[in-house]
Amino acid sequence: MDLMEYQAKELFAKHGVATTIGVVVETAEEAKAAAEQLGGVTVIKAQVKAGGRGKAGGVKIAKTPDEAFQYATDILNLTIKDLPVNRVLVTPATPPEEEYYFSFLLDRSNRQYLCIASVEGGVEIEEVAKTNPDAVKKIAIDPGKGVDAAKAREIATEAGFPEAVFEQAVTMIEKLYTVFVEEDATLVEVNPLARLAGDTLEALDGKVSLDENASEVRHPDHEAFEIREEADPLEAKAKDLGLNYVKLDGQVGIIGNGAGLVMSTLDVVAYAGEKHGGVKPANFLDIGGGANAQVMANGLDVILNDEQVKSVFVNVFGGITACDEVANGIKGALELLGDKATKPLVVRLDGNAVDKGRAILDELNHPLVTQVDTMDGAADKAAELANNA
Ligand SMILES: Nc1ncnc2c1ncn2[C@@H]1O[C@H](COP(=O)(O)OP(=O)(O)OP(=O)(O)O)[C@@H](O)[C@H]1O
Ligand SMILES: [Mg+2]
Repeated sequence: MDLMEYQAKELFAKHGVATTIGVVVETAEEAKAAAEQLGGVTVIKAQVKAGGRGKAGGVKIAKTPDEAFQYATDILNLTIKDLPVNRVLVTPATPPEEEYYFSFLLDRSNRQYLCIASVEGGVEIEEVAKTNPDAVKKIAIDPGKGVDAAKAREIATEAGFPEAVFEQAVTMIEKLYTVFVEEDATLVEVNPLARLAGDTLEALDGKVSLDENASEVRHPDHEAFEIREEADPLEAKAKDLGLNYVKLDGQVGIIGNGAGLVMSTLDVVAYAGEKHGGVKPANFLDIGGGANAQVMANGLDVILNDEQVKSVFVNVFGGITACDEVANGIKGALELLGDKATKPLVVRLDGNAVDKGRAILDELNHPLVTQVDTMDGAADKAAELANNA
């Protein structure tokens, strides 16, 4: 889960990282009021989950509340990297004397954490990495040892923080690591980390990605960061139904049991689609082990509501939940959905109690349902139906 800047800054503040949040608003009137309340010069910043907001016109300095109104109007009308701007952050302007880059991230390939820091950095970090790679320091962190005061000092030295802010950098590095570990983040990035007038160090921007696997049990509070309206409406619906669903942009809806099976179903459908007008999978949907009628109906309901979907491939390998239960689930789902079921379903059942399962669907003899015995054959049929629709 990626956080907005203001949410990242809330986590920074919680762990004592020097930052100024400001006020998050949804209208230009509120932005003006916030600027009045803060007093002085403010910065109006688009809150979207995308980088390069400044370059896209999403960060503006407002000298007066009226300017704040004007800029907020402009920014709220922007679309940055295809994302509409629904909120802006109004925050006191604190012009940086110098800008640095700092991040902790999960380095999966090396099974460790990585710290990336640059005092040449700031928002042009990508450019610096290309033209002057030596200025971007990469420091491996052993997750077992973590970052204590001594390690933070080592990092600050390696990065080359100037003396005037060195001690503050050490403190901030330790605290950012606390954010990274205690919040179960996979990324904590500060760009720019700024030296302000009077040599104070502050996080002027923040990007945090949280590990969603840790949300439910370890961080129930993280749920509040999710802004539902930003999510795809079908994904939000699936989430409410407790389904493991990801929207993609093809035409063949996919339902399977088990993440591995669904992943390979996406592959075979994409491959089969090459012969049928290039149709592609429309989604990932794993209904998991207990595919009863209600779960199947919920899954079909979400997929059939996707306008792009032209056919649905139900690919189930019966295990603990046997094929006859799944077949009854499909039957029940079609009854539950009634007229809402409008697109052809290709069903491939295999595994435990496959004969009983297939017999149930044969007997049902539903006009929308086609049974195919093999996964490749079913993928081909589903792709063909989607292409002909
Ligand atoms: N509070 C502030 N006061 C003064 N200037 C600011 C403030 N916040 C940001 N800026 C200036 O705006 C620039 C861009 O800000 P910021 O890093 O927040 O957005 P961005 O880098 O363009 O967006 P992203 O990080 O999404 O790529 C900064 O480099 C900084 O110079
Ligand atoms: Mg930034």
